Amino acid sequence: MSKADDRVEKAGKRIGEVARSAEDVPRLFADLRAAFDRELATAHSTAEVESLRVRWLGRKAGLLNQVKNNWLLHAAAELKPQVGKQLNALREHVEHKVSHTLDAILARTEVSAEAVDLTLPGVAVRRGARHLITQTMEEICDIFRRLGFSAVEGPEIETAYYNFEALNMPAHHPARDMWDTLYLNLPGGAEPLLLRTHTSPMQIRVMEKQKPPVRVVVPGKVYRHDNPDASHSFMFHQIEGLAVDCGITFGHLKGVLDHFLREFFGPETRTRFVPSYFPFTEPSADVHGSCHVCRGAGCRVCKFTGWIELVGCGMVDPNVYGFVGYDARELSGFAFGMGVERFAMLKYGIDDIQLFFQNDVRFLTQFRR
Ligand code: DAH
Repeated sequence: MSKADDRVEKAGKRIGEVARSAEDVPRLFADLRAAFDRELATAHSTAEVESLRVRWLGRKAGLLNQVKNNWLLHAAAELKPQVGKQLNALREHVEHKVSHTLDAILARTEVSAEAVDLTLPGVAVRRGARHLITQTMEEICDIFRRLGFSAVEGPEIETAYYNFEALNMPAHHPARDMWDTLYLNLPGGAEPLLLRTHTSPMQIRVMEKQKPPVRVVVPGKVYRHDNPDASHSFMFHQIEGLAVDCGITFGHLKGVLDHFLREFFGPETRTRFVPSYFPFTEPSADVHGSCHVCRGAGCRVCKFTGWIELVGCGMVDPNVYGFVGYDARELSGFAFGMGVERFAMLKYGIDDIQLFFQNDVRFLTQFRR
């Protein structure tokens, strides 16, 4: 019989047979602990560790249960506290070691399963996926494409002229305060450039280039001087819309946005147009959609109002036509703008805008299509 077995054997005997006095108790437990450690050192698979666990911690026949029955319960009153304490410490040691070893074995198997086997033929290529923001932009642009809008993109670095002035916000106009951004100061007193605060400047660039009728949507990145939190980011995405022709009315604007929101959020979506203010539209409105989660009954998503603010819009202010050489007496049109992250968050139940930009693959692959 090996020495280890000999030590373990003692668990099956009454304490009176294996310890003559209180001084013997620590030695007994130290022996058991050493025996356990030696056995554990030879266990290399989860199955081996599991059978070790049963041998030591098993409810009935487990060695520690034998120690309890044979030593603790039969110990003389003055020995009991010491035996109890030692038994608890040993049990903790065994439990901790078993679970630690199992974790380590599992971690090793995960790594080796992922390791590249260079002897295999061919190279497996993991399929990537379009980012959820890209998907959402495409989904929105597709809806408008079916209504006859074409999609165009514009520069992210803009002049103050396009970002503000031609949109009816002269220098020092207080409405500029609605959009704080980052400026690029160029050497030699050249006109300062800025990171565009919205996609609206493309309204001007498109009308400068093109005669009416105009029907465009403009997806792209925009920048704001905002501190990041769950609903703010210094960079995000917008989609702008513009339609100009003879005889365009607010009725057309309503019809187009009603249709768009029903296509995006579902056919039961209702809308309401609430008066608002934007410098480049007159009249202006915010479009609210009935909450697609509670269908208007009130819930956390709609802050218990039943409605969610989705789109800013209005009839193009006649002053804007003055900047692009359109005749405001002949033409009319509407414009609108919306945040892509907001649409994606609402549709897919995402509660933190930062998730889009952290590039955590576990988040991104949920939306693989
Ligand atoms: N540019 C506005 C913003 O960033 C959104 C907007 C509102 C665009 C009304 C429009 C519009 O074209 O008509 O807050």
